[in-house]
Amino acid sequence: MDPILRLKNITIKFGALTANDNVCLDINKGETHAILGENGAGKSTLMNILYGVLKPDSGQIILDGQEVNIHRPRDARALGVGMVHQHFMLVPALTVVENIILATCQTPLINMKKTSQRIRELSTKFGLEVDPAAVVKDLSVGQQQRVEIIKALYDSCKILILDEPTAVLTPQEAKELFKIIRQLNAAGTSVAFISHKMNEIMEIADRITVLRGGKSVWSARKADTNEKELARHMVGRDIVFTSSENGAIRDKKILEVKNLCVSTAYKKNAVKDLSFSVCNNEIYGIAGVDGNGQSEMVKALLSIIPKDSGQVIFCGKDITHDSTKEIFSKTIGHIPEDRLNMGVISRFFIFENTSFYNYRTDEFSSRNSIDWKKEHSYSDKLIQKFNVKASGGKAVFSTLSGGNQQKLVVARELDKKPRFLIAAHPTRGVDIGATESIRKHLIQQRDQGCAIILISTELEEIMSLSDRIGVMYEGKMIAETTPKEASIEQIGLWMAGKES
Ligand SMILES: Nc1ncnc2c1ncn2[C@@H]1O[C@H](COP(=O)(O)OP(=O)(O)OP(=O)(O)O)[C@@H](O)[C@H]1O
Ligand SMILES: [Mg+2]
Repeated sequence: MDPILRLKNITIKFGALTANDNVCLDINKGETHAILGENGAGKSTLMNILYGVLKPDSGQIILDGQEVNIHRPRDARALGVGMVHQHFMLVPALTVVENIILATCQTPLINMKKTSQRIRELSTKFGLEVDPAAVVKDLSVGQQQRVEIIKALYDSCKILILDEPTAVLTPQEAKELFKIIRQLNAAGTSVAFISHKMNEIMEIADRITVLRGGKSVWSARKADTNEKELARHMVGRDIVFTSSENGAIRDKKILEVKNLCVSTAYKKNAVKDLSFSVCNNEIYGIAGVDGNGQSEMVKALLSIIPKDSGQVIFCGKDITHDSTKEIFSKTIGHIPEDRLNMGVISRFFIFENTSFYNYRTDEFSSRNSIDWKKEHSYSDKLIQKFNVKASGGKAVFSTLSGGNQQKLVVARELDKKPRFLIAAHPTRGVDIGATESIRKHLIQQRDQGCAIILISTELEEIMSLSDRIGVMYEGKMIAETTPKEASIEQIGLWMAGKES
């Protein structure tokens, strides 16, 4: 059988860097083909070429046996290629339906009703719950991802590219997505699937191709390989995750949250009467299905959104009414759930992003002007320490691959040596080698006395890193436990709002 898609000798360079180097990839009709590789290996670049976002320097795209020219995403969609990007392509101020109209190039007045209808159809059919009238900026990251998936499915497509679609989904939502993928495959649609999660790849892929340093280095049928072998092909060594336990005495409450209530324009009582505390040398994991008040809680703790009531105490001092700026001037770090919107200014250079908290301080300024040399050497230090794949601090932040962006945000926040750190999905989008290293850094930070709130939709991450675990459901902390006391199944039940 001829493949439906054949990418032949695709090459693209960005300055001195060859992001895709003679890459070849075949995708068969109705199969899910996983593309795997370390951060910066060239996966998104290759898919962006197929979707018409980037133009290759050389190479061919052969679709259904015919060479095609794809100059822009509209050409790709017309040929039956849809894409869910690694980073959202939604307009925050518009509603779900408006975003979909915009992306599918329709005339708003005529199609508003029809589009809403189609969104509801797709939501019901695939269990992708989303309100067509909701404004995108009010949706959680997980909900926004659902909108992206609906957008890609909106036009019927032959090849659907999913660039790390599960990075922001809960395991349950990922399972739902896999059902969709299987349905799509059964209907003859091929799926190009990028993920760093080996278990997902082993569950959903028919075939797998590994990219390394911009080259396609290895391909296999899923049936002929296993997770360990995949990791070895990607990273070149076995991966060992550190376990978290330490015997430190936790005698100080670093953060206390008392009866916190938060409402937003979109969600009344998003956080309800929430109380918990985190001690020195402690990782407090918050388990919960995305959208149960975790985002609102974090934003309210940092005064990014107002609190209805309640109290926040940091090292014995009431910071309930402090501004965000005042909070960040304390030794508080934040790895945000949405790195691009909350963590960085992506059109700025890397060195500007690594020093933007304290560029006015002596660390980076002298005699009232910024000392560029200090900024550069600091960003170079972080790049090295966290093994970020970047040409240097002078690169624009948005030119980093997704995982390398995440590594840099984590590096900046950890290097502040915070007394209290909020780590929301710290390993989101990073490859397994870097996940191992970020986890080690978090544990190290904890062992040096830091109190850490760890928010993750990955229960495995929560279980292996946390000293205590709180389970959030509908804005409340409905259970508190430790990894030793509770099983993954029990926590899963709490996350679904079920009492034991
Ligand atoms: N517009 C650009 N300008 C300069 N360099 C770029 C640009 N886009 C991508 N790159 C570089 O090309 C390389 C490949 O990036 P790409 O985004 O394809 O990686 P990836 O495999 O998708 O990684 P990740 O798993 O982190 O998402 C990276 O080194 C990245 O910095
Ligand atoms: Mg990528």
